[in-house]
Formats: sequence, C-alpha cells, structure tokens
Amino acid sequence: MLVAAVVPHARDGATVARCSVYGGAMADSFPSKDELRARLLDARAGRSQADREQAALGFVEQSLAVPQVADGPRVAGFLGQRGEPDTRPLVDALRSRGVTVLLPVLLDDFDLDWGAYEPGQQAPGRFGLLVPTTPRLGTEAIASVAAVICPGLAVDVAGNRMGRGGGSYDRALARCGPAVVRCQLVYDDEVLDAVPVANHDQPVDVIVTPTRTIHISRTRGRDS
Ligand SMILES: Nc1ncnc2c1ncn2[C@@H]1O[C@H](COP(=O)(O)OP(=O)(O)OP(=O)(O)O)[C@@H](O)[C@H]1O
Ligand SMILES: [Mg+2]
Repeated sequence: MLVAAVVPHARDGATVARCSVYGGAMADSFPSKDELRARLLDARAGRSQADREQAALGFVEQSLAVPQVADGPRVAGFLGQRGEPDTRPLVDALRSRGVTVLLPVLLDDFDLDWGAYEPGQQAPGRFGLLVPTTPRLGTEAIASVAAVICPGLAVDVAGNRMGRGGGSYDRALARCGPAVVRCQLVYDDEVLDAVPVANHDQPVDVIVTPTRTIHISRTRGRDS
C-alpha cells in the first residue's frame, strides 16, 4: 500500500507529497524495482477517469511553467498509453505553440528512435504501442531537443527516476548534453522519498506533476 504524507521540501520551500512505499515500518525491506513497479501500476490502475482527465490539464499547466518545454523549439514528449498519464492535451498544446514534439519509437533492442508528432499520424508499433508514422529521425535526435519529458512510474526527490523497466530512457538521456532539461512527468503521489538506483540510471532535473513543478539541484554529481 502507498502511504502518502505531505512534508516540507527543503529545496524549494514548497510542500511535496511524499509517499512511504514501505507500507509502514521501513525496517529492512527496501522494495526491489520490480516490487515497486507492481505497486505503482496497481495504484495507477485504480485512478478514475475523472482524475485522469483533471490530471491531464494539470500536466499542461505545470509543463508550460518550464521555459524549455513551453518554448522548445523542439521537445521530446510521449503519448501516454496503457494506464500512463494522458499527455495528449500537453502534446497538442505544445504543437499549437509552434513547438515540435518528438515522439519515441521503441526499437527491438529497447533503444528509442524518434519521429515528429502530427495529429492522426500514429500507428501501432512494437507491443502495439502507438508510434509516429512521420519520418524517423534516428536515436541521436534526442540530443537536439531543449527538454525531454520522460514517462515513468516514479521519481524521487533527488531526481532518480524509475520507468517501466526497459532502460530505454536511460539510453536516450545518456545522449543528451547538460543543456537539455530532463523532466519527469508523474502523478503527485509518485514523487517518493527514494527509488532504487543502479549505475546506468539517468536522473532528471525537473519533476512535473499535475499540481507543481519541482526543480532539482544540478549538484548531484551527474556525468554529463
Ligand atoms: N545504456 C544501456 N545499454 C544497455 N542496457 C541498458 C542501458 N541502460 C539500461 N539498460 C538496461 O535496461 C534494463 C532496465 O533498466 P531500468 O530498470 O533502469 O529501466 P527503467 O529506468 O525503469 O526504464 P526506462 O529508462 O525505459 O524508463 C536493465 O537491465 C539495464 O541493464
Ligand atoms: Mg532506469
């Protein structure tokens, strides 16, 4: 069970909804990534349609508070599918602002190719996921964006993110230079005190929830 509590957040002076993922006594059982993913997916499955629709509007408002997202001119985004947050309003809002939104294409080795978003120009790709049918731009296209909006199941207050387990965004983010702003889009109760981290995990700079943006200090020893 996810147990949420609102506590002060030292970095920005705001309050951040933090969750204990330990179901009470932390003791010695830090959950594995897979255990944590299962709990987070269960929690997502329990969200109502009304909650998802309200959150989608919040994601637009909060994402546009990040200048590198709002102004691009090029942003890597995603279309939320299969229980992910609904990002269609966000992607459409960015396009109406003249921002080019790149959408991911999952490759056989779980790396990501990219194609520009155009309304109605998507078709089922690997695992039936909708992918752009616009020209493929190559795996290195991610290096050319002002900001990346990452999907994922959780992020901690230090910016460590946890996705679905393919390592796709770890690969993609590793290609981005320091000027690329890395954003993690999650629901408020998916901002955790800590998530399990491995050496290959790439952190983010900004957490975007339906109600806030949380900027994370860059002084955490990232390589690039
Ligand atoms: N650069 C890489 N090259 C090859 N494999 C990688 C790379 N980065 C991560 N992986 C592999 O991907 C697998 C899943 O990694 P991880 O659990 O961190 O996924 P994730 O962060 O949840 O997924 P994603 O990044 O797609 O959101 C691991 O087995 C890891 O070794
Ligand atoms: Mg990872």
